[in-house]
Amino acid sequence: MYTAIAVDGPAGAGKSTAAKRIAKALSYFYIDSGALFRAVTLKAIQRGIDMSDTLGIIHMMKDTVIDFKDEKVYLDGKDVSVEIRSNNVSANSSYPAMISEVRDVVADIQREISKTRNVVADGRDIGTTIFPDAKIKFFMIASVEERAKRRLLELNASGKNYELRDMIEQINKRDRIDSTRVVSPLKKADDAIEIDTDGKTIDDVVSEMLDYIDKRLNK
Ligand code: CDP
Repeated sequence: MYTAIAVDGPAGAGKSTAAKRIAKALSYFYIDSGALFRAVTLKAIQRGIDMSDTLGIIHMMKDTVIDFKDEKVYLDGKDVSVEIRSNNVSANSSYPAMISEVRDVVADIQREISKTRNVVADGRDIGTTIFPDAKIKFFMIASVEERAKRRLLELNASGKNYELRDMIEQINKRDRIDSTRVVSPLKKADDAIEIDTDGKTIDDVVSEMLDYIDKRLNK
């Protein structure tokens, strides 16, 4: 039986940075579940499918293959790791994530990976739906201002020039859609440990999480 570590939380709470570092420290496989939803979103955008066209997105899933290889995300055989980080994909990613048929595909990919190795998975529903029996569950939070600032730094570092207030609005909207959807909403699992990352460095956060993991795994 392999170990799963769940890292959930809202947009920009620092999940992926922390989860990646933890996976590296423990030599676990890192599953970026958001990247899978982002790849679906990218394909829908490329095909000109409207985000409200649920049936169109479900139909599109029938000939869609998403895969992780060497820490990169492949969509139908093409590396899309950079494209899925665009602001357009971020802003739209919550829509395909509302569709249960899309979530089923994404869930299968994650559970298949976890059958053969230890994993650290980050997302919204890892501790509640994907790996409800995960031995260790974190729920990361931070104020919306801090999360928007972090996202802005990432985007603007790649030469873009987005406004803080637009980013706050986008993050609030995504959080609202993610928390209120019917299937697998963003929710802290009852047995998850809450990590508030406001005002903390990533090094502090990761060492707090690794300390906890160490205690739990060696109990
Ligand atoms: O990095 P960020 O937190 O901005 O987003 P992400 O983790 O890449 O996820 C992108 C979108 O996918 C989220 O806004 C959610 O709508 C969706 N998602 C989800 O519904 N469930 C997951 N386990 C992961 C992501």
